[in-house]
Amino acid sequence: MRITGKTRLAGIMGWPVAHSRSPALHNFWLDELGIDGVYVPLPVRPERLAQALRALPALGFRGCNLTLPHKQVALSIVDRVDPLARRIGAMNTVVVAADGSLEGRNTDVYGFRESLRDSALDWNAAAGPAVVLGAGGAARAVVAALIEAGVPEIRVVNRTAARAERMAEDLAVPLSRMSIHPWTVRDAALRDAGLLVNTTSLGMTGEPDLNIDLSRLPPRAVVVDIVYVPLETALLAAARRRGHRTVDGLGMLLHQGRPGFEAWFGTPVRVTRELRVAVLATLAASR
Ligand code: ATR
Repeated sequence: MRITGKTRLAGIMGWPVAHSRSPALHNFWLDELGIDGVYVPLPVRPERLAQALRALPALGFRGCNLTLPHKQVALSIVDRVDPLARRIGAMNTVVVAADGSLEGRNTDVYGFRESLRDSALDWNAAAGPAVVLGAGGAARAVVAALIEAGVPEIRVVNRTAARAERMAEDLAVPLSRMSIHPWTVRDAALRDAGLLVNTTSLGMTGEPDLNIDLSRLPPRAVVVDIVYVPLETALLAAARRRGHRTVDGLGMLLHQGRPGFEAWFGTPVRVTRELRVAVLATLAASR
C-alpha cells in the first residue's frame, strides 16, 4: 500500500474495534482494484461518537462503518437516515455527501439478502414459512430482508417475547405475517418451514451451544447461521448431515460491506472465493 496526498479515506468506528474484520475486507478490495485508498479501524469511545462523526468531512473521510456500541446512537447524530435503517433502528454505514452532510444507511439487510442469493440460488421465498431464532439487532435485519423477499409467514422464536413484539412493531410487520414463539417450542416451530435462520449468539465460539432438534424440518429447507466464528457451527454441521442446503455467516459479513465501498470509492465490488479465503485467514490468525 502506498499513501499519497490523494489517498481516499474510510474506516470503522467502534469501541472496541480491534476485532472487526471490516479493515481486512475493504483493504482487500482496495488492493485488488489498485485504488489509492485506505480503510482504518477508528477506536471511538461512546461519548465521543458525535464529535468523531462530525469530524469526518473535515478530515476528508468519504465515510465509515459503525459497529458496537454505535449503531443505534448514530441515528440521532447524522443529518439523514434511510427509511430502512430508521425502521430497523440501527445503521452501520455513514456516507459523507458532497456538501459535507452525513447520510446513515443500514446495509445488513442487503448483506443477508445477497448472501442467501449467492449460496442458496434455488431458495424460493414463497416456498414456505421462515423460522428466525432471536430478536436482537441482527434478527431485525433478517426479518426486514425476508419481508422484502416476500416470505409469506415468519416465525420468530425468542427467549424474551417482549423483544420480539417490539421488533414486529418497529418493523411494522403485521402479526398476521409474523408469529412469536417461546424458546421452549423451537423444535416444533420448524414444521413445514422452508428456511431456518439462527441470529442468536448461541453456537459462537465462547458462547453456549444452540440446542435444536432439526428432525421436523423438511429436507428442502435451507439453514442459515449468521455466526461466522466458527464458520461451520454445530447447527450447520447437523443441517448438512441431514442433507439441507446451508449458508454460513461469512457471506452476510462480506456482502454488507459492498454498498459502503461503492459509495466511498466509486467502484462496485464482488464477493469472490479469494476474498473469503483472505478474510478467513485473518479470523484464523486472531484465534
Ligand atoms: P445482535 O445485535 O447481534 O443480534 P443481541 O441484540 O444481543 O445481538 O441479540 C442476541 C439474541 O440472542 C437475542 O435474541 C437473545 O435473546 P433475548 O432477546 O431473550 O436476550 C438471544 N440469546 C442470547 N443468549 C441466549 C440464550 N442463552 N438462549 C436463548 N437466546 C439467547
